[in-house]
Amino acid sequence: LISKQFVVDAMIPKKSLPAVPMASESAPVNIALVKYWGKRNEELHLPITDSLSVALSLMTTTSVRQAPCKDEIILNGQRLPESSAFFLRTARFLDLFRPNSSFFFTVETKNDVPTAAGLASSASGFAALIKAINTLFDWRLSPEKLSILARMGSGSASRSIASGFVLWRKGVLEDGEDSYAECIGNPWDELRFGVLLVTSEAKNIGSGEAMRRTVKTSPVYSLWPEVVERDLKAVYQAIGSKDFVLFGEAVERNALFMHATMQTAWPPICYWKPETILAMNSVWSSRSQGLPVYFTMDAGPNVKVFYPVSKEKEVLAFFPSLWQIPLLW
Ligand code: PMV
Repeated sequence: LISKQFVVDAMIPKKSLPAVPMASESAPVNIALVKYWGKRNEELHLPITDSLSVALSLMTTTSVRQAPCKDEIILNGQRLPESSAFFLRTARFLDLFRPNSSFFFTVETKNDVPTAAGLASSASGFAALIKAINTLFDWRLSPEKLSILARMGSGSASRSIASGFVLWRKGVLEDGEDSYAECIGNPWDELRFGVLLVTSEAKNIGSGEAMRRTVKTSPVYSLWPEVVERDLKAVYQAIGSKDFVLFGEAVERNALFMHATMQTAWPPICYWKPETILAMNSVWSSRSQGLPVYFTMDAGPNVKVFYPVSKEKEVLAFFPSLWQIPLLW
């Protein structure tokens, strides 16, 4: 089994001390249009399928510097206890990059989104962190390498290295050298995005465990690679021809199938709350009244929608609480 440390050591220049006293970098939140759901390698976060996302203009900004005697992590101005899940997960990631065992980091990280909004993601977090580490040590790594290293923190972080439409190719190599994300296609200026906020409660099962259980136990998971292939083809074509209906249909059915795979796992996993279903129904009823609005959902209860700018006024009238978030091209 290939370890993360082995891959990292092969990828970064010989470990040295910081080249600058402090480095600060940002990375965007990304929303998957065709989802990443299931790993072929748990250790290296290598996916079973390709996935495709679009970047939001919500950023995580992270600064790193050397700390005197132990790691320190400050999230939105608050020093985190060393026993918190966020601290432990970040420190494990930092372990991969320490020049020696007595080197510690101070990490200060700020999210544009209030963490409570349920959109603040590990994806933008690990992408910003690896970019800041790269700058601190002056490694000058390529975007492909940064994407691979961000993936070591969380799979979807590989896509937060770029903006616009981003394709993460699953790759076939055992060490994941060919499993990284890059920008594809041109900006689609008429595309609009918003969130129907359902709840800001923390989810009770993480995406890692949910994926594992789904791959292992859902009888419909075997269809997922075919579904992804079909939906990727459609979204690709839709992006190329700016066909909003083709785009929306592929995005919505992809999210629904992902949720079908977890709802048919055992024990079953359902991230939906009653309000999630109400929001889905209001999207469907807006469509039956002629409004082109389509939704997607991730490993959480919030419903995220796409619509064309030409219908913005009508969409806002229909969904007065819609939280509009610009896309990042
Ligand atoms: O990167 P992870 O392990 O947090 O998984 C992300 C999974 C989804 O958000 C549900 C789908 C995706 O492609 O982002």
